[in-house]
Amino acid sequence: MPHISHKGLELPQSAIRKLVPFADATKAHGIHVYHLNIGQPDIETPKAALKALAQTKIDVLAYSPSAGIQSYREKLCQYYKKNGIDITPERILVTTGGSEALQMAFTCCLNPGDEIIIPEPYYTNYNTFAKLCDAKIVTVPSDIKSGFALPLVDDFEKYITPYTRAIMICNPNNPTGYLYSEKDLYAVGALCKKYDLYLFADEVYREFCYDGEKHFSVLNLPGCENNVVLFDSVSKRYSACGARVGCVITRNSELFSTMMRLAQARLSPPSFGQIFAEAAIDTPQEYFDNVMKEYVSRRNVIVEGINNIPGCFCPNPKGAFYTVCELPIDDSDRFCQWLLTDFQYNGATVMLAPATGFYSDPEKGRHQVRITYCLCKEDLRAAIKCLEEALKVYPGRLKAKAKAGRKAVAKKAAPAKKAEVKKAAPAKKAEAKKAAPAKKAEAKKAAPAKKAEAKKAAPANKAEVKKAAPAKKAVAKKAVAKKKA
Ligand SMILES: Cc1ncc(COP(=O)(O)O)c(C=O)c1O
Repeated sequence: MPHISHKGLELPQSAIRKLVPFADATKAHGIHVYHLNIGQPDIETPKAALKALAQTKIDVLAYSPSAGIQSYREKLCQYYKKNGIDITPERILVTTGGSEALQMAFTCCLNPGDEIIIPEPYYTNYNTFAKLCDAKIVTVPSDIKSGFALPLVDDFEKYITPYTRAIMICNPNNPTGYLYSEKDLYAVGALCKKYDLYLFADEVYREFCYDGEKHFSVLNLPGCENNVVLFDSVSKRYSACGARVGCVITRNSELFSTMMRLAQARLSPPSFGQIFAEAAIDTPQEYFDNVMKEYVSRRNVIVEGINNIPGCFCPNPKGAFYTVCELPIDDSDRFCQWLLTDFQYNGATVMLAPATGFYSDPEKGRHQVRITYCLCKEDLRAAIKCLEEALKVYPGRLKAKAKAGRKAVAKKAAPAKKAEVKKAAPAKKAEAKKAAPAKKAEAKKAAPAKKAEAKKAAPANKAEVKKAAPAKKAVAKKAVAKKKA
């Protein structure tokens, strides 16, 4: 058999999708899987844009210009203008999703051995795009205790070497949900200017900012025109991941014309997707207001739900629809696989993304998972219940260590309390106003009852798990073998 290239063999597995064969096997066994592992929103795509696509008269489904359909690029400028960004069509190169935008810029900016500095945890697919150009990702740690705030500029500076070519920022962040401030971005911009680095900015979650916080785009950093390269996408904005339309924007004309050569070689971004995306720009603000309201309430269900599970900690993210949580587990890879092969609660289980894949050193994510809140609240609550029950019976559960970790972080984070929760439980209304100590006391008070309930549920659950395990394992093994074959 012809061999696979060295580069091909070195391409990392997706941390988000690597457990898919186990999930498929579990589903084949009739068990429902709550997908908290992937950022596939269930929100409806704007109907008017879909209708516009359906009504477009097409005789020949032709290539579009390599940089994208001109009317779409012009309309995109209106979208950016509405978001306080002045840009002209000749700075916008339309791509096949944000993913191709990343790949194009990495290819045209990075030489083998070049380094990109990224705060970690970070979006795992950057690894693949860096690997394709033999560039190296260098990480600056951010801390769960601060909700993964941007590390200090001094910290970034420590990692700059003669090989450093770029700093990469994802804002709002996937996987942490952290929203960087204008001040943060001015500091990073200044650093890029000082060392003549590219500032790669992934803003595909621009719309997803919560609690009245505003997004600041790196395109508005003065004096950084030749440094800034922006990645964007319609995937999340319009819940249109299948449109496969994104773009890369830069005012650096030399870089733009270099990327155009690559764009011409790959001919064209998707024509259908661009027709949809152009129409989607007319989506009324009301759509986004409703979507953001929904995501805020989902976030609150997740943050509150996770923080109410003993030994768990979840920061309160201000953007995107992800959060990285700390769980009392020995190994997040093992735990996430075990959830799919050895556990079920009421005929369902949860799929999570082990955080190991979001760090340069997997050890740092050993006790963490990334959770997405793309499901409806009812499903999120059911998924949290599953997780709570799973943690009661997981053989690799850590006890004392996780509790200590939670104590330290609980002080820093004020998990959001939602109006909806208050409404549902009037008794909780008063508690919500109280500070963390009050909550702690309450948790203590509730503990015996919870413990008793857990004890009662555990044998049945264990028996159920035991009973299901061999069959599930067999199915999972078969699916993995099939996938390998
Ligand atoms: C941070 C980030 N950047 C880029 C992308 C790429 O998205 P797409 O290729 O669908 O536009 C994603 C997708 O999940 C993402 O989360």
